[in-house]
Amino acid sequence: MYPVVRVTQPPDAPEPLGTKRKYWYKAADGREVLFKAEERGYGEDWSEKIACELAALVGIPHVHYELARDVNADVPGVVSVQLCLPGEALVHGNTLLQAIDPAYPRTTLRVPAHTVDAVNRVVRMLSIPAPRWAANLPSGITTAVDVFSGYLMLDAWIANQDRHHENWGALWTENRLTLAPSYDHGACLARNVSDEEKAARLTTGDAGYSVGAFAARAGSRLFDQPTDTRPLSALDAFRRFSAPIPHAADAWRDRLRAVDQSTVEAVLDQVPPDRLSRVCRDFTLQLLVENRTRILAL
Ligand SMILES: Nc1ncnc2c1ncn2[C@@H]1O[C@H](COP(=O)(O)OP(=O)(O)O)[C@@H](O)[C@H]1O
Ligand SMILES: [Mg+2]
Repeated sequence: MYPVVRVTQPPDAPEPLGTKRKYWYKAADGREVLFKAEERGYGEDWSEKIACELAALVGIPHVHYELARDVNADVPGVVSVQLCLPGEALVHGNTLLQAIDPAYPRTTLRVPAHTVDAVNRVVRMLSIPAPRWAANLPSGITTAVDVFSGYLMLDAWIANQDRHHENWGALWTENRLTLAPSYDHGACLARNVSDEEKAARLTTGDAGYSVGAFAARAGSRLFDQPTDTRPLSALDAFRRFSAPIPHAADAWRDRLRAVDQSTVEAVLDQVPPDRLSRVCRDFTLQLLVENRTRILAL
């Protein structure tokens, strides 16, 4: 089973960004750690943990999450270590996009200007993540754009619906900007669909209500054109972004091909059952199988 970190330390500081309540505290080893609460009952603790383990399986630079519990408030959540080293700062995608286009809207999260091309223009200017994040890249992945293509493949695999412009970014040090590791995958794996619906979709004879039909509807936060009203599907976001770099898409897809069902099951089965019900586990597995098949069929 994955461990559950018991957080007993008092908060040092709240983290104002994002939608969930979260705070920083100093761990026993002196590191700054962010506790992100899952108090809305959406299941964003197990989804975040599974997403990071799947990212590790395919070699994607990612923030590592552990399941956690705020002991004093008796609230479940996840923890992650401060991803910046001393002297580094995280610069979000919206700040980078605005630097090259002053008209880019910074505030709202559903932004048609958040196009595949605009993101590509920014990521092209970044260096590849530092070796401490990129120790297991596939061969042939040599640029930040190549790596970002992997982030979008991960999103398509786990049905991450939240790669908006504050959920990717760059690490700024004195004289350079490197692509930040992938973080905040909690809004994935249909975590907030009820167990009743999951059970019904797993057993239905109606192809239109099946897990496969559900999987095909997963949306992204990336748009094709700034005039579009609907974002691309997660699969199309990966396909569109990777079209100019087929070698990168192939390298990531080779990694995905190597992850068989039993390996994914081993990940799911390490989540304590009080966080992930049986039906939720079975639905999650089926969703991952369907999405992997669709990615490998591109
Ligand atoms: N491990 C971390 N190290 C440094 N900053 C972090 C870390 N995790 C989150 N953050 C910061 O907190 C913000 C919100 O966290 P995030 O995981 O995106 O939560 P939410 O799901 O509420 O959006 C991020 O955009 C980032 O700026
Ligand atoms: Mg976020």
